[in-house]
Amino acid sequence: MNSATRLVCNLISLSLVLSSITNVNGGGYKPSDSILLNCGGSSGGTDADNRKWVTDTNSKFLVGSVQSTVVTADYQDPALPSPIPYMSARIFTAPASYNISVNKKDRHWVRLHFYPATYTGFSPDSAYFSVAASGGLTLLSNFSAHVTAKALSLAYVVKEFSLPASDNGMISLTFTPSDKYNGSYAFINGIEVVSMPDLFSQPASLVGFSDQTLEASGSGLQTMYRLNVGGQYVAPSNDSGMSRTWYDDSAYLYGAAFGVTYEATDKVRVDYPDDEAEYIAPTGVYSTMRSMGPDPNLNRNFNLTWVFSVDGNYTYVVRFHFCELIHTKVNQRVFDIYVNNKTAYDDADVIAWASSKAVPVYKDFAITVTDGPGDDQLWVALHPSVDAKPQYYDSILNGLEIFKMNDKTGNLAGPNPEPSQMLLNAEENLTAGSFKSESSSNSVIILAPVGGIVAAAAVVAVVAVLYKKKSRMAGNESNGMWLPLYGNSHTSSTSKSSISGKSSAGSNFANLSAICRHFSFQEIKHATKNFDESLVIGVGGFGKVYKGVVDGVKVAIKRSNPQSEQGVNEFNTEIEMLSKLRHKHLVSLIGFCEEDEEMCLVYDYMSNGTMREHLYKSNNPPINWKQRLEICIGAARGLHYLHTGAKYTIIHRDVKTTNILLDEKWVAKVSDFGLSKTGPTMNQGHVSTMVKGSFGYLDPEYFKRQQLTEKSDVYSFGVVLFEVLCARPALNPSLPRDQMNLSEWAMNSLRKGALNDIIDPIVKDQIAPECLKKFVYAAEKCLLEHGVDRPSMGDVLWNLEFALQLQETFENDGSPSVDGGDTSGSFASSSDSMSLTSDESGISQNSRGIDHDPAQVSTTAVFSQIVHPAGR
Ligand SMILES: *[C@@H]1O[C@H](CO)[C@@H](O)[C@H](O)[C@H]1NC(C)=O
Ligand SMILES: *[C@@H]1O[C@H](CO)[C@@H](O)[C@H](O)[C@H]1NC(C)=O
Ligand SMILES: *[C@@H]1O[C@H](CO)[C@@H](O)[C@H](O)[C@H]1NC(C)=O
Ligand SMILES: *[C@@H]1O[C@H](CO)[C@@H](O)[C@H](O)[C@H]1NC(C)=O
Ligand SMILES: *[C@@H]1O[C@H](CO)[C@@H](O)[C@H](O)[C@H]1NC(C)=O
Ligand SMILES: *[C@@H]1O[C@H](CO)[C@@H](O)[C@H](O)[C@H]1NC(C)=O
Ligand SMILES: *[C@@H]1O[C@H](CO)[C@@H](O)[C@H](O)[C@H]1NC(C)=O
Ligand SMILES: *[C@@H]1O[C@H](CO)[C@@H](O)[C@H](O)[C@H]1NC(C)=O
Repeated sequence: MNSATRLVCNLISLSLVLSSITNVNGGGYKPSDSILLNCGGSSGGTDADNRKWVTDTNSKFLVGSVQSTVVTADYQDPALPSPIPYMSARIFTAPASYNISVNKKDRHWVRLHFYPATYTGFSPDSAYFSVAASGGLTLLSNFSAHVTAKALSLAYVVKEFSLPASDNGMISLTFTPSDKYNGSYAFINGIEVVSMPDLFSQPASLVGFSDQTLEASGSGLQTMYRLNVGGQYVAPSNDSGMSRTWYDDSAYLYGAAFGVTYEATDKVRVDYPDDEAEYIAPTGVYSTMRSMGPDPNLNRNFNLTWVFSVDGNYTYVVRFHFCELIHTKVNQRVFDIYVNNKTAYDDADVIAWASSKAVPVYKDFAITVTDGPGDDQLWVALHPSVDAKPQYYDSILNGLEIFKMNDKTGNLAGPNPEPSQMLLNAEENLTAGSFKSESSSNSVIILAPVGGIVAAAAVVAVVAVLYKKKSRMAGNESNGMWLPLYGNSHTSSTSKSSISGKSSAGSNFANLSAICRHFSFQEIKHATKNFDESLVIGVGGFGKVYKGVVDGVKVAIKRSNPQSEQGVNEFNTEIEMLSKLRHKHLVSLIGFCEEDEEMCLVYDYMSNGTMREHLYKSNNPPINWKQRLEICIGAARGLHYLHTGAKYTIIHRDVKTTNILLDEKWVAKVSDFGLSKTGPTMNQGHVSTMVKGSFGYLDPEYFKRQQLTEKSDVYSFGVVLFEVLCARPALNPSLPRDQMNLSEWAMNSLRKGALNDIIDPIVKDQIAPECLKKFVYAAEKCLLEHGVDRPSMGDVLWNLEFALQLQETFENDGSPSVDGGDTSGSFASSSDSMSLTSDESGISQNSRGIDHDPAQVSTTAVFSQIVHPAGR
């Protein structure tokens, strides 16, 4: 069978395996077959990437159509990129095939699109089916799009396969409903069949067997992951003709050290050798990279590591894409490549391979992942090669692809991902309207949306922690947290310990005493009356939060749950991180305690609790409009500082009214500084969108595109502004569908000119009309669909301050106008707003460290929560 995995063990030396990139002229690949079927659609149309789909109705491709039904989804999820191909489906209650004629010489991409919605009477949870392809391949089996999408928090699922050239010029896809479940059916929304150049003609080096290679060219492959390392989402339309999607890699980084991202400036052009092969990976992938950072001592002591969940008992081809963007000479940057803790390549030198700067190369490795408990993971790590004595102790990566090869039986199908019980529970609790809940220590993974809910009651900054369970999934949580790798300026004392894994504990903390106070456990016990349950003011992912008194000062004490297994070193780094962030509008860390098994963090106590509890659903007297405005301004300042004020850009990721705390003087303080990161999700490959944040506040663009920028915080802040204006939760599942989601409801009301109907009646009569205009204008702009169109936090802040002035003028003399009052108008230009606000945070935008690098490489803030500037 030509699809069988062929293990070709021969003595090709590794350097021969390195594939130099060769092929057609730069403009990209022109597939000879490109068939996009909008299944069950009454007509064709274009999708979000402007690609043309045709209907499969009456098409020659569909054979055995007797048993199929054409249906339309009852509900259009806002996370769908476009109605085509998702809103229509073809349902099969008996086996049926698409036979698609293609050219005989090419491999083909086959992409299957599934939107598990309710289709006129067909419930999504009863669809279990298999999909087989010609050549004896099983692509999916016992597949439930519903279970998959739910487990991964996705609206829709795309599965991408690469099929070997077919002997008879026919790709046949057979959908068979499972006979294990009564009433089971198969469905499909969209099918893409696109020819591809032979990307797998070169054998891959078999990791762990120094001189053996593995031939993938005859195999069926499933794309598990496709990442633009150190870069951003690359849309199918930007992928040099093959319509692949490349995702941001940051979600898969392991541990605290995520290095530094670079983006080539205009002066550095990616130079495909011999005018070739842009299709190997587009320039968008090769022109961005992640490296370890500028500090050689630091880099010697850690691995830049990514962790992926995969299906056990399969062999994977791992493709590394490299393109050196800074250095020009051999032996400047030399590093070792590890796959699953085995050496895949010693002394990798990108310049030696590519012969020149900015020339891309890729390298394939194959590894078999066994099927033992906890073995369903793929680790990829880079470490500077100390033996080679390179000029810089550093390593880089530009792109990474992971493909699963079919096994001996032609199977490619993995199990459905296990839904995280935590996620399910939390969803139930959310629906039930209860936001407070105990965190359960046996959850598999806390996806951040859940963390957000669980932590809603917490009063202090909680760095979300991933929970651990000794189970099949164990290890997914190992990703703990997402924390910055500090540069040389503050690493000297703690660098080793804070990033090199589970090494020495305790002793590290001594160094921190200089930064913040070290408490003894005795002091903490005393402060909390021996952790008296009556003093619990919140429960977060990390553990419980107690009210306490230290030296007569009220504090909030977060005690680590011993089961949370947050590593000592991560704890250490958290302290260092939080203690560095000092701002009037950020909750500050006072100190810490580390003794035996006990770890505690001590924060300022916020006597007025969360902003939310002064808006609705509480016994607190409602606060007036001007106070609300002042709180919004404080929170906006805090966020503005996070985005622009520190050495690194920090994206909060979980802006909401429960993360805005109020001290005794009603000063707003942002807490929970978005340092959390989810572990790699289950084995659904590159579709594994991991959206973090809280339901109701999520930036739809981030949701769709995985593009994380500061503007995602701006979006969430827009929801906060409407929450303040309307005094209702961001998400209220007990309301009718059109009102459930505050952002949708507010924007719809605005469009209908019905703004007055949604304003909190308590403050309605207090608001100056001009102030309202300005406020709503700002809120509305924050909620714009595209991040680039949204204002910066600085602009939002400026507008809110202006709105406050208008309000004050109105309250003082009843006159609605203000000096020079352009009240209806547009946003102040960025420069204006920056000059107004820069003294607040003590920085100007120009000090962000862009383009400081002598090698004309700029650090990009996009996609990294915290970006260390390249400056040294
Ligand atoms: C469809 O393809 C399958 C497998 O290649 C083949 O067995 C079947 O006869 C084809 N059906 C039609 C109607 O061409
Ligand atoms: C399926 O239906 C058959 C007959 O209708 C019944 O005997 C069987 O128990 C059902 N199986 C399940 C899993 O519901
Ligand atoms: C395609 O890439 C260009 C340049 O890299 C970028 O400006 C553009 O926004 C991208 N288009 C899409 C749809 O991502
Ligand atoms: C692994 O796959 C082989 C077929 O390739 C199969 O025979 C074997 O049972 C599988 N092992 C497990 C533990 O699933
Ligand atoms: C690789 O090593 C890490 C510890 O360094 C361990 O947690 C992980 O399970 C290992 N991975 C594999 C696939 O062996
Ligand atoms: C890097 O990873 C390799 C393979 O897992 C391991 O042997 C090595 O100890 C790691 N190095 C550091 C500094 O963590
Ligand atoms: C099919 O998938 C469901 C959901 O993941 C799972 O519970 C069930 O055990 C699977 N059935 C078989 C026969 O593998
Ligand atoms: C959901 O609420 C129930 C009781 O209200 C609680 O036992 C359970 O732990 C909660 N689940 C989560 C995930 O918080």
